[in-house]
Amino acid sequence: MPGLFITLEGGDGSGKTTAGQRLYEQLIKEGYTVTFTREPGGVRIAEEIRNVLVDVNNKEMNAKTEALLFAAARAQHLVEKVTPTLEAGGIVISDRYIDSSLVYQGIGRGLGIKEVYDINMFATDHLIPDLTLFFDVKPEIAIKRVMSNDREVNRLDLESLEFHQNVYEGYLKICDLYSDRIQKINAALSPDEVYEQVYQKVKELL
Ligand code: TYD
Repeated sequence: MPGLFITLEGGDGSGKTTAGQRLYEQLIKEGYTVTFTREPGGVRIAEEIRNVLVDVNNKEMNAKTEALLFAAARAQHLVEKVTPTLEAGGIVISDRYIDSSLVYQGIGRGLGIKEVYDINMFATDHLIPDLTLFFDVKPEIAIKRVMSNDREVNRLDLESLEFHQNVYEGYLKICDLYSDRIQKINAALSPDEVYEQVYQKVKELL
């Protein structure tokens, strides 16, 4: 497919959304056609699925239900928002994509990377990003950031530090597994320093 598909990955509070927004604004200024979006969500039906996923009252949600709902939201988001931009030769920046599922559901929930990969290949018709940036910051630091801004707390934020540590370890594993497309960003630095690394990596591709 023409176009460029960039995904941002990392734990909660890793600063990927802030850097993504800035990257989006910069690329627009440079004259590119860019879509900045997020998962789960990004389009109406996927936002409805998101509400079910993040609702703190849905404590009894089964791990497989969770994995399938993330994949369902992804399929809808892809068809309505990601693919049209890529087909038109534009750039898509997605705040989270498939790797979030591999890590949170495959490793965090223990469903297995392979199992979660397979349902996502079905959901996405095998659309793999051109570049994935992993915002690397230890969960202890990231959680402090989450708690200090007044962002709404979601069902996954409420998981234990152990869960978030597993997620972090999971991301490191995924970085090794897909080293051809995933690049690490040192996200323990200041927002400006984090952004600078992001911009450089993207510029290398353009
Ligand atoms: P969100 O508020 O968007 O978190 P963030 O700002 O950190 O991206 O909530 C999304 C939550 O859903 C987040 O905790 C990660 C989780 N998630 C999964 O578990 N699997 C997935 O496939 C995706 C896309 C997100």
